Amino acid sequence: MNFEPQISYILIQFLFLGLCSCHDTISITQPIKDGDGGGDVLVSNGETFALGFFSPGKSNYRYVGIWYHKISEKTVVWVANRDNPIKNTSGFLSIDTQGNLVLSDNNDQTVPVWSTNSSTLPTNEYAVAQLLDSGNLVLLRNESKQLLWQSFDYPTDTQLANMKLGLDRRTGLNRFLRSWKSEDDPSAGNYSYRINPTGYPQMIFYKGQVPWWRSGHWNGIRLSGVRVFTTNPLFHISFVNNDTEISFMWSTYNTSILSRVVIDESGFSRRYIWYEQERGWQPLLSAPTEPCNQYGHCGAFGLCDLNNTTEFECACLPGFEPKSPSEWNFRDGTHGCVRKPGSLICSKGEGFVKLENIKPPDTSKVVVINGLSLEACEKECLRSCNCTAYASANISEGGSGCIAWHGDLVDTRIFTAGGQDFYLRVDKLELAQYAKISKGSVATKRIRITMVILGVIIFFIITFIAYWFAKRKRKGQRKLFNNANITSEESLKEEKLEESRTHPDLPFFDIRTLIAATDNFSVTNMLGQGGFGSVYKGQLINGQEIAVKRLSKHSGQGTQEFMNEVTVIAKLQHRNLVRLLGCCIHKEEKMLIYEYLPNKSLDYFIFDVTRRSHLDWRKRFEIVNGIARGILYLHHDSRLKIIHRDLKASNVLLDASMNPKISDFGMAKMFEEDQIQANTNRVVGTYGYMSPEYAMQGLYSTKSDVFSFGVLLVEIICGRKNTECINGSQFPNLIGHVWELWNEERVLDIVDPALCQPFSTDEVSRCIHIGLLCVQEAATERPTMSDVIFMLGNETTLPPPKTPAFTFQSTESPKSISGGAVSLNRVSITTLEAR
Ligand SMILES: *[C@@H]1O[C@H](CO)[C@@H](O)[C@H](O)[C@H]1NC(C)=O
Ligand SMILES: *[C@@H]1O[C@H](CO)[C@@H](O)[C@H](O)[C@H]1NC(C)=O
Ligand SMILES: *[C@@H]1O[C@H](CO)[C@@H](O)[C@H](O)[C@H]1NC(C)=O
Ligand SMILES: *[C@@H]1O[C@H](CO)[C@@H](O)[C@H](O)[C@H]1NC(C)=O
Ligand SMILES: *[C@@H]1O[C@H](CO)[C@@H](O)[C@H](O)[C@H]1NC(C)=O
Ligand SMILES: *[C@@H]1O[C@H](CO)[C@@H](O)[C@H](O)[C@H]1NC(C)=O
Ligand SMILES: *[C@@H]1O[C@H](CO)[C@@H](O)[C@H](O)[C@H]1NC(C)=O
Ligand SMILES: *[C@@H]1O[C@H](CO)[C@@H](O)[C@H](O)[C@H]1NC(C)=O
Ligand SMILES: *[C@@H]1O[C@H](CO)[C@@H](O)[C@H](O)[C@H]1NC(C)=O
Ligand SMILES: *[C@@H]1O[C@H](CO)[C@@H](O)[C@H](O)[C@H]1NC(C)=O
Repeated sequence: MNFEPQISYILIQFLFLGLCSCHDTISITQPIKDGDGGGDVLVSNGETFALGFFSPGKSNYRYVGIWYHKISEKTVVWVANRDNPIKNTSGFLSIDTQGNLVLSDNNDQTVPVWSTNSSTLPTNEYAVAQLLDSGNLVLLRNESKQLLWQSFDYPTDTQLANMKLGLDRRTGLNRFLRSWKSEDDPSAGNYSYRINPTGYPQMIFYKGQVPWWRSGHWNGIRLSGVRVFTTNPLFHISFVNNDTEISFMWSTYNTSILSRVVIDESGFSRRYIWYEQERGWQPLLSAPTEPCNQYGHCGAFGLCDLNNTTEFECACLPGFEPKSPSEWNFRDGTHGCVRKPGSLICSKGEGFVKLENIKPPDTSKVVVINGLSLEACEKECLRSCNCTAYASANISEGGSGCIAWHGDLVDTRIFTAGGQDFYLRVDKLELAQYAKISKGSVATKRIRITMVILGVIIFFIITFIAYWFAKRKRKGQRKLFNNANITSEESLKEEKLEESRTHPDLPFFDIRTLIAATDNFSVTNMLGQGGFGSVYKGQLINGQEIAVKRLSKHSGQGTQEFMNEVTVIAKLQHRNLVRLLGCCIHKEEKMLIYEYLPNKSLDYFIFDVTRRSHLDWRKRFEIVNGIARGILYLHHDSRLKIIHRDLKASNVLLDASMNPKISDFGMAKMFEEDQIQANTNRVVGTYGYMSPEYAMQGLYSTKSDVFSFGVLLVEIICGRKNTECINGSQFPNLIGHVWELWNEERVLDIVDPALCQPFSTDEVSRCIHIGLLCVQEAATERPTMSDVIFMLGNETTLPPPKTPAFTFQSTESPKSISGGAVSLNRVSITTLEAR
């Protein structure tokens, strides 16, 4: 054995530690200097952070900054002289006689480059600056340790744990984040994230001086514009609004987790967590780039609703109509809505409509009354003719307080889940339409009571009739029953089981209902068959069409496990995901019931010589965007992180207006938010769409879905399968061929000739470019789904792609994949067992 390298490693470490543990402070006798070797560095006591001189990116200018000490990838979290760099390595940072921390240039000491400007200490007193393990640089009086200044009060673009943003009401200091100009230039960029203290304080991203995205007011549980994270196991968020301060802060429960929130040069805010195993920063949450997040996207009195199945996400609030119908028809909602003509506000009989799951509008012009109950809030709002809406200020249990909006309601949106109840003032006529849910004046209350009593009576009558009918029908259904081999004893057991399994979020379908709907699973109703079972079309008695997926019996999954997974899937709601309507368990058999989509799947169109001409470029681009949004929702926006693991053309279904909906979450495993990559002993996926790390090592992460998306994107553009061999190409598949053409700068040759209409070649080649970035060999080189959406929607410059992963079977022996049929020419669901 050879011990030498190890010994020298220990020696180096010893020297290194010995060197840096010596100081974390700057005093009047101990300044730090820049130098050609990188200059002096302060290291905090626990060695988490370091302070020193650095040059960002390609720049040669020198800045004083704080970065993570232990992390190989230099990550700067604070910059002192962001707007005033030093041209060469002649800077030094010291304490002056007044007790300020001063950065000077040795070449020109007349004016300091940067100073804390905080204090004038008496002549016999000194100050010391100390870098704390939290990343805070503090300036203290040497004797009393009184705090004179701290870097946490002057953040740059990064919020660290326990760092307060917001207003100190006593001093007027407003701490906010501001982006860098570019990666090479830390000077103040265009985007900032700050508290707007007017009205009811809210957190807003600004582009210049203009609001860009509102993460909203604190509603007692979370910021109102941020989607549900019921209980985040990693972070604690606190918001304070009292006489001394308005502040927003987060902290980690486990202090050894390194995390930061950054607002980047293009205005996106992301939270990153450091993962030691992967030696990389993983973005955890990001401000999604949905149109509904743009401030005022639907104008005054507009309502942004991504869930709306119509193409346009803007709608008007109840009682309002588009101000400019022509622009509205061109999908420009910014002019907003006006009250319908003839509506009488401030008259008798009016009231409020309750809207659920709302991100309430801008709170900068509201009246807030603390401690007021919701009922009192309604009365208060009704009293003032200018009051247009109200909501509870604190939605946590037992919370109270009243926010009343006066005037325009700007930037209201609706979430599929989360959000809060919002009460909108409408006139008598509108209220009548919403009579069931409104709480109005005394008159309507009386009507309500009568209606409730009537309702109860009708309910009993209907129940009785239904029961009577059901009893008769059951007799008739026995035949069907026998057909499916269910004895009446078993069915009794079944009913009991079902009762115990009833779940509020998840409707259970009776096997008899499904037998009736699918004509006893007749072959004529079969829509398709795959490794996971067969899919049947069905029609319920109420006329609703459904797709029933009958899972193959040997899935090996237990009932409880199945139930857990299905409950999660049922909660996912997005317009680009196929909706799961419920499930059915009968003996060994498990079934999933989905909404039925008439237009079949994407592969039915794009790989068919005649049908693919139905999809022009605009439509394909919309489909690509829709798929991307659906995946992003699975990855980031739903409460749980879901990885699809089997994205492919046949798993993208199309609705009546050819909007894509991703299907088959059968294999999607739930992911805890803090797990970025998991190892699985079974590789499940489809040849041609699998990322190399997944196919070879069974490692999957959101980046494996990005890979599959990249393949799909290229397939959509080319109208060919990835597994197809292309004449005259040296590569075995489409990706390889596209890469070949890309390097020869004639990538447009491969574009589907069926796209005969004129299309933007720039846009098409940009999409191919994005596709190539998604299929990079190394997972870290691939963009995240939110990056992809950003790249699709904005004409930013893209990094050049490197060689994609197109032949992973040649890099490692095929022995690591064995068993299961790998079919090269058929896209099919294939189960591969690793080893
Ligand atoms: C820094 O630049 C100044 C001129 O701006 C020059 O006089 C000085 O010698 C340079 N110092 C170093 C260390 O390069
Ligand atoms: C310190 O004061 C000078 C002059 O008033 C000003 O130019 C500079 O920006 C101030 N520095 C800081 C860090 O506030
Ligand atoms: C700071 O105070 C310590 C004792 O608290 C003393 O030893 C040291 O000399 C002081 N430093 C300066 C620069 O006054
Ligand atoms: C910042 O805004 C200005 C003016 O709107 C624009 O010219 C500039 O390109 C923007 N900078 C960045 C980094 O976006
Ligand atoms: C305001 O809240 C902060 C942080 O919780 C607290 O330190 C401060 O004492 C509070 N001020 C008042 C006036 O309650
Ligand atoms: C905190 O995180 C570290 C590393 O992730 C882990 O080793 C440690 O067990 C965690 N501590 C607690 C109390 O959860
Ligand atoms: C969906 O959009 C249509 C057309 O803009 C509108 O009539 C409808 O009210 C919207 N639905 C919701 C729930 O916002
Ligand atoms: C209501 O709004 C009008 C016009 O904006 C204003 O003149 C009036 O003073 C407001 N009334 C109240 C009670 O706020
Ligand atoms: C909201 O209400 C809860 C329950 O009364 C209370 O504990 C909490 O402090 C309130 N939060 C705010 C921000 O007022
Ligand atoms: C979202 O859409 C689904 C069906 O498309 C509908 O059932 C659901 O109520 C909608 N949610 C909201 C908040 O509009």
